[in-house]
Amino acid sequence: MEPVTILTIWIIVALIIIGVYTYVWSSSLQPHQQGKSPHISRWRKPLFIIMIVVLGSLLAYSVPRVPYAGGEIPDVVVYVTGRQFGFVQSEHSISNEEEFANAAGYQPQISVGQLVEFRVTSLDVNHGLGIYGPDGRFLGQTQAMPMYLNRLFMKFTEPGVHTIRCLEYCGLAHHAMQLSFEVQPSNNQVGSLSSRRVQ
Ligand code: CUA
Repeated sequence: MEPVTILTIWIIVALIIIGVYTYVWSSSLQPHQQGKSPHISRWRKPLFIIMIVVLGSLLAYSVPRVPYAGGEIPDVVVYVTGRQFGFVQSEHSISNEEEFANAAGYQPQISVGQLVEFRVTSLDVNHGLGIYGPDGRFLGQTQAMPMYLNRLFMKFTEPGVHTIRCLEYCGLAHHAMQLSFEVQPSNNQVGSLSSRRVQ
């Protein structure tokens, strides 16, 4: 489902709920109905059933369609591991400090338009993983959690240095948890754009 469709449905449902609440609120203002309100109680049960049916159907319809790349095979897989206070990216999964240290400096080969799967975990506490484009725009995020692998699928539209930043406060040097990777121009862009070095 298109994001705009989801937003439209959400706005319609929100307006209906606001309408019902406004109606109930305005009815409750009439003094002669205080305490007992047969008019409202008559509607209580059918409205409750309608709410369960409408919200239940929307949930059943929308949840299986959440926008993850279903069944697509990624062009690049990058493991990203966090720990206080840094990230590393690697070709293989990392489960201890030694592997973490060995992975330092690894740069994945990513080009514009490729489907990239980030497999994200943590060696200690919960960290957040946010990905920012060359212009500093926020592009995507997931959590880096100990004993758990989160998968984030992304396609980059711009070449250049992208930055990973920790998005969850994890200790005194939380702000220092940063990492960068470079997205290369896709084949038909090579030549028109000069590539930059990653520090
Ligand atoms: Cu890791 Cu904040």
